[in-house]
Amino acid sequence: MAKLIAGIGTSHIPAIGAAMDSGKTEEAYWQSLFEGIQPARDWMAEKKPEVCIIVYNDHASAFSLEAISTFAIGVADEFPPADEGYGPRQVPTVQGHSRFAWHIAESLILDDFDMTIINKMPVDHGLTVPLSVMYDQPAQWPCQVIPVCVNVIQYPQPSGKRCYNLGKAIRRAVDSFDEDINVVIMGTGGMSHQLQGERAGVINTEFDKKWLNAMVEDPQSILDISRTEYFREAGSEGIELVMWLIMRGALDADVDEVYRFTRVPVSNTHYGLTVLENQN
Ligand code: DHB
Ligand code: FE
Repeated sequence: MAKLIAGIGTSHIPAIGAAMDSGKTEEAYWQSLFEGIQPARDWMAEKKPEVCIIVYNDHASAFSLEAISTFAIGVADEFPPADEGYGPRQVPTVQGHSRFAWHIAESLILDDFDMTIINKMPVDHGLTVPLSVMYDQPAQWPCQVIPVCVNVIQYPQPSGKRCYNLGKAIRRAVDSFDEDINVVIMGTGGMSHQLQGERAGVINTEFDKKWLNAMVEDPQSILDISRTEYFREAGSEGIELVMWLIMRGALDADVDEVYRFTRVPVSNTHYGLTVLENQN
């Protein structure tokens, strides 16, 4: 059967992808960031999961405000990098696992989560930057990917509790899939940041630190943070953090945090990375 071995949280800051794509990783600004990421890359290279479920948000690349889906799952065989206004990133096409994705879609919908099923979807920095963070610049991505896309852009975004419970349902789907594969789930986006408006540039490292600690020790304590609190404490894009709660909900109650790295600022955000392993 499929086995969920771990969850990873990482920001999806587009400038990280741009630094890699344009060969700037040795520059002083970037060097310390990539040094901080390296242990997570080493962990990934050692664990070699066959499939990554990547919980992310689209930034008006595949979707627009014409149709807003709260939760969507990509079931295609492949997902091309999206053109984000300056051409697609020069990274490999993302390979899906259609049979597994359909199994998860079926399991979630029969488990009362109304997923939108996506047969064709380009994927933007929200998904490709986390892959770049974890895998550097391979000729092909080393894992198959199941994209789970969450609306964190347009009010009303889903609550933290709803996201956590979706994670639990994803876990039930993984546990009941009949292939002997190792699976990692990634929660992406965050941490605190605000890209526009009067408060552009908001970063709240205290909030983020408490939140990361709670992710390890007591996720229940952060499930009821309201949208308004995310906006006030972590900036208007800080609410991307609810996607990490989907990842956490899929894990065991007790996890080992095997790695954490944060840096402030990266671009306009607080960069955060955590690797949480299930204990057995
Ligand atoms: C930035 C961060 C994001 O999460 C995003 O989607 C776009 C831009 C930034 O830091 O510039
Ligand atoms: Fe974003």
